[in-house]
Amino acid sequence: MARKKLIAGNWKMNGLMADGVDLAKGIAREVKALGKPGCEFLVCPPFTLLTSVKKALRGAKVALGAQDCHFNAKGAHTGDISPLMLKDAGCSYVILGHSERRADHGESDELVCKKAAAAHAAGLKTVICIGETLEQRNDGKAIDVCSRQIMGSVPEDSTSADTVIAYEPVWAIGTGKVPTAADVEEVHAAVRKVLSKKLGKSNANKMRILYGGSVKPGNAKELLSLPDVDGALVGGASLKVDDFLGIARNSGC
Ligand code: 13P
Repeated sequence: MARKKLIAGNWKMNGLMADGVDLAKGIAREVKALGKPGCEFLVCPPFTLLTSVKKALRGAKVALGAQDCHFNAKGAHTGDISPLMLKDAGCSYVILGHSERRADHGESDELVCKKAAAAHAAGLKTVICIGETLEQRNDGKAIDVCSRQIMGSVPEDSTSADTVIAYEPVWAIGTGKVPTAADVEEVHAAVRKVLSKKLGKSNANKMRILYGGSVKPGNAKELLSLPDVDGALVGGASLKVDDFLGIARNSGC
């Protein structure tokens, strides 16, 4: 079965109301103009913009996602947001275990796994992020690190219907540096093998593995035509309508 490509924008901590709504409207307009795109689209704005962006996307085939959630449904967790709240705000996806959260908030594989299980239970799909640091890559440990993160961060009962993996080498995020196509394919193929061991061959073959890290319109074609690359998780370039859609168009969407 062919895996439909997913072009996902992670807006990170960017966007005040007016700009965020404009961006969402622009993306909605351009996605509608594609007619029947061959890809799926997802945007993940900050929490404060979720409901406004949801409205701005009305009528366009663009899913809404958040960038994190708590593992509890409700309760005394000041400053946190639950999966049910995200669902209630119109989200169908949540990004979990992004390297910025792993670094800034000390999130472990175990915590990411707990959050993912809770998100799935609430009916959300997860985009679970993995990726090695530059030091780990230089030590030849990229595949070991990613394999360990998959084993620890992905719940046992995850399926291709509720889970997307995003491989984002930490050193490629926001730096303009991108691994060679051969290196990207090597990690993605290895990740699929680990997924096969963990979740079974059928889930692994159907599960989408996105690449993230300095994806731009100019490198999208090469990266997204690799056999095990099933889309992109885009940071900086997802904040401009032309760049985000350029990535999609250059990937054959
Ligand atoms: P950049 O596209 O800005 O490198 O960010 C990638 C990323 O972290 C997406 O989650």
